[in-house]
Formats: sequence, structure tokens, C-alpha cells
Amino acid sequence: MMEPYAIHFAPLQGYTDSVYREAHAQVFGGVETYYTPFVRIEKGGFRNKELRDIAPDENTFALPVPQMIASSPEEFRRIAGLFRESGYRCADINMGCPFPMQVRQHRGAGILPYPDEVKALLETIFEFPEIQFSVKMRLGWESPDEALELLPFLNGLPLSHLTLHPRIGMQQYKGETDKDGLSRFYGQCTLPLFYNGDIRTLADIHALTGRFPCLRGVMLGRGLLSSPWLAAEYRSGNLFTAEEKREKLFAFHALLVEKYSSRLEGGEHQILDKMKTLWDYLLPDAEKRLRKKVLKSSRLGDYQEAVKNLIYDTSITAGQ
Ligand SMILES: Cc1cc2nc3c(=O)[nH]c(=O)nc-3n(C[C@H](O)[C@H](O)[C@H](O)COP(=O)(O)O)c2cc1C
Repeated sequence: MMEPYAIHFAPLQGYTDSVYREAHAQVFGGVETYYTPFVRIEKGGFRNKELRDIAPDENTFALPVPQMIASSPEEFRRIAGLFRESGYRCADINMGCPFPMQVRQHRGAGILPYPDEVKALLETIFEFPEIQFSVKMRLGWESPDEALELLPFLNGLPLSHLTLHPRIGMQQYKGETDKDGLSRFYGQCTLPLFYNGDIRTLADIHALTGRFPCLRGVMLGRGLLSSPWLAAEYRSGNLFTAEEKREKLFAFHALLVEKYSSRLEGGEHQILDKMKTLWDYLLPDAEKRLRKKVLKSSRLGDYQEAVKNLIYDTSITAGQ
């Protein structure tokens, strides 16, 4: 039986670029919506890397929702304008990023303690009636009351949904997620709500949706980077066998090597560096010895051999 909650793939700067998203959608699927890592204005303009990431011809298999991070209506207009010109009809607004560089400029979670700035920023959505906006946010920067105080205003906006990561920005990713803060937000939120944070297994998803049945869905980040089959298993209600997981992982990995090889012009080392970042999160339970071999390879051929050994020797099991 298909599970009723939608699964969204969280944006993760440095990991979920268009190559990754497309390969994931092709091989694993189960994800209703992919998001791009945030697009920002830096030194007065856009970075080529981000322009490429949202370009329609780089996103043919899974059209993502592009995400913006902005502190003022001016920045918002420029980024939303770019999304509109690129053909997007949905966009996500980041009010959760805890990186100090962004927070200092009142972007991401750094805008949450300033309700007037939040209002000015979000009212800019009315200038873009052709775009359906959503917001991804934390409970606050310093205090979990910040998001609750904004909620009556947010409820009144024509947003498609909100995604809540129930931590405060100062916590970064440390400590537990705040389930009481989530409860209070959930009780007063009238927009479709997605939960995000620390979901790693099917049991975690079920525990959450059991306790908060009115959620519209769940956004998974590092849990999907570690177990890329998680969304597909949840949505289909069927567990992959260990063999299916190995085959899919192998195909996924091969597709990533192929796409990064054709895209990165810096040669073998650049491709290897990019591929090795995959292992920051993928298969955390893999044997240390096999993982070390993967990370120590200095030639693409050796790397691929080491990955094959890891995928086929490692203790991938059925289910979670
Ligand atoms: C390395 C890294 C990069 C991230 N980049 C973004 C981003 O570009 N936009 C965003 O909204 N969140 C970003 N996040 C936050 C994730 O989307 C997500 O909210 C967070 O990882 C918690 O969810 P998880 O526990 O399922 O991973 C990032 C997180 C990490 C660890």
C-alpha cells in the first residue's frame, strides 16, 4: 500500500546538486519534490555554479523547486525574477540556514528575530503571482518563540506549504530536535506542514507521522544521503532486498561518475574529489577498512574498484 505522506528531499549545499538529484530520481525515486540548494546574491550577482544548477536543461528528469535565501525585498525580487525567467512556477524561501555568513546579514535563520524584516521580505511574494512560494524555517534563531510569533502572519499568506526544522539556529545541527516546539507550531499552523530533521529510518518516519498525523509530509536530508532508498521504500510500502539495494546503489554511483566526468573539466582529481564527498554520509555502517580504501584512492579506476568492493562486501541489509 502506498504511504500517504509525501517525501521531500532537503536541499544540501555541496551534495544535492542537479547531477545528484537527477541520478537519485532516475535510480531510486520515491521523492515528490527535490529542492535546489539556496541561490543567493553574492558580490552583487549570481554565481555560475548556481545558475547552472537551476538551468532547465540540467534538470530534465526531476524538475526541482529552486530555493532562495534573501534578506530584503530587493534581493528577493532579483532571485525570484531569475527563477521566473528560467521558467519556474514554484520557489522556496530559506529562513532556516544557520551559517554565520548568512545569519550576520539577516538571511536564513538570521532573519527570524526581526518580524518586520520577515514581513517585508515575504510580502514580496505578491509581486510574483505566477509563482507558488513555500517557506523552509527553523523555530527561531535564539528562541523557539520567534517562529510562533510569526505564525499568524505566515498563516495568512498564500504559501503552498511550510517546512519546519524544529531547532533554533544557534543550535546548528546539535542536540535534539524540539518536539514540544514542533507540537505548539503544529497546533497553530493552518498551512500544509512538512517536518524536517534527523529522520534516518522508516521507523522514524512512522513514529513522526503517528504522533503528528496532520503533517502533509516529511523532508529528508542526511537520512536520504545515507540510505538513498529510504523514500522509495516508504512510498511503495515495500522493502528492497539487500541485492536490490546493491544493484541500485551501483547504478546510482555509476551514473554519478559518468555525469560528473562529462561536466567537470579539471580531470580525474576533480572528479575523485567530488565523488568522495558522497561518502561523507553514504552507508555510514560500511566497514571502516573498505571505506578507507575508497577515500584513499588516487586514480579513478582504483576508486571504482574500491567502491565496488564496498558495495558488494558491506553489510547492506534488507529493510532498516
Ligand atoms: C551540508 C549541509 C548543507 C545544507 N544546505 C542547505 C540549503 O542549501 N538550504 C536549506 O534550506 N537547508 C540546507 N541544509 C539543511 C538541510 O536541508 C536540512 O534542513 C538539515 O540537514 C536537517 O535535516 P536532516 O536531519 O534530515 O538532514 C543543509 C544542511 C547541511 C548539513
